[in-house]
Amino acid sequence: MIAPTRGLVARVARPQWRLASTVSRAPRAGFKAPTAAVMPKITRPYKPKAPRASTPPPPPPPQAETLLDLWRATWLPLSGAALLAGALGFYIVGTLAASFKTCPCSGPCEHSTPTGRPPALTGDNAEQFDKELNMPEWWMGITKLRKRLAERANGHVLELAMGTGRNLEYYDWEPLNQRMGDDQAVTAAKGITSFTGLDISVDMLDVARKRLVKTVPPMASSAPIVRASNMTDHTGGQLSFLDDQLRLIHSDAHRPLPPPSTTSNPSSPAKYDTIIQTFGLCSVSDPVAVLTNLASAVRPGSGRIILLEHGKGWYGIVNGLLDKNADKHFEKYGCWWNRDIQELVEEAARKTPGLEVVKVERPNVLQMGTLVWVELRVADKSPSKSDS
Ligand SMILES: C[S@@+](CC[C@H](N)C(=O)[O-])C[C@H]1O[C@@H](n2cnc3c(N)ncnc32)[C@H](O)[C@@H]1O
Repeated sequence: MIAPTRGLVARVARPQWRLASTVSRAPRAGFKAPTAAVMPKITRPYKPKAPRASTPPPPPPPQAETLLDLWRATWLPLSGAALLAGALGFYIVGTLAASFKTCPCSGPCEHSTPTGRPPALTGDNAEQFDKELNMPEWWMGITKLRKRLAERANGHVLELAMGTGRNLEYYDWEPLNQRMGDDQAVTAAKGITSFTGLDISVDMLDVARKRLVKTVPPMASSAPIVRASNMTDHTGGQLSFLDDQLRLIHSDAHRPLPPPSTTSNPSSPAKYDTIIQTFGLCSVSDPVAVLTNLASAVRPGSGRIILLEHGKGWYGIVNGLLDKNADKHFEKYGCWWNRDIQELVEEAARKTPGLEVVKVERPNVLQMGTLVWVELRVADKSPSKSDS
């Protein structure tokens, strides 16, 4: 039995070991104990103790932030966000209010089908309509677009469905103003050398005439030539100023369009350099026919048709609202705001020989694609061009 024996030996040996370690031993022979006199004194030079690095005081207990502290720290971004939200709210409410205003007619409006004539915009209403548009157009970004469009109007210009002349003040009239100074026809690279404005409503044209007097200074001293309709040109009359270089024509956009005036400048081309139309396709009864008509009046090659229109946008929900309120809007403004402008323009290009779409843009993202900028041209099929 190995294990018990080993345990017994260990138990007996342990007290012996303890005894041996506590008994003082006798000095060994030959050993000399040092006396006190020879004992070296160990003295160390005094060194002041370096002060122990003091432990940092515990952080003060966190104080509750007051509202004032919070405001001080965040007033700038908060105010910015509040201003932005306010402006956006103002924009949306304003746009909706401007769009959904009720029909000014008392009782049912005269026309409920697209006749191309705004029934509510007659007499004083035309002037009122014009004033009401200032603010909404500004915040919808339309005023800016009118300026951009007017910059493109050069040479012999035709503006179709010009209404109260809301683009007039943005055109560059300098060539016409100069012309009156030296009594010479001016061929300028930029600006308007002759202007023809056309609309179906005499009331709208009358507001445009008053605006023109303010906008083109020489016009105030130019006696107008009044030309009544002769039935063959399908115009209901014409007012012409500045030697026929500035004309207002009462006519229908579906009828053949008058060429630029050649009265004082026989070298005038038979076609226009620029044709402008803003918010016209929504108002005429046959937009594709009107586009074909415009194509026949613009100079092939270099001439441009530039349109700023409104209609269906990017989102179904917006388009649904436009559809739902289309009747009411037509009654007020004589325009169908739920037309698909891009579709109409493409249809016109398919049906009209030579008509090409140069550009379709949907500016101003906040309008959700309902504003449409279109540029068109007519291919130059003259032999010299097709040969090259
Ligand atoms: C919505 S307003 C736009 C007026 C202007 N272009 C503007 O940007 O403010 C539509 C204009 O189209 C005119 N209009 C409607 N049908 C027309 C037609 N068949 N021929 C010529 N003008 C027409 C109306 O008289 C009205 O002045």
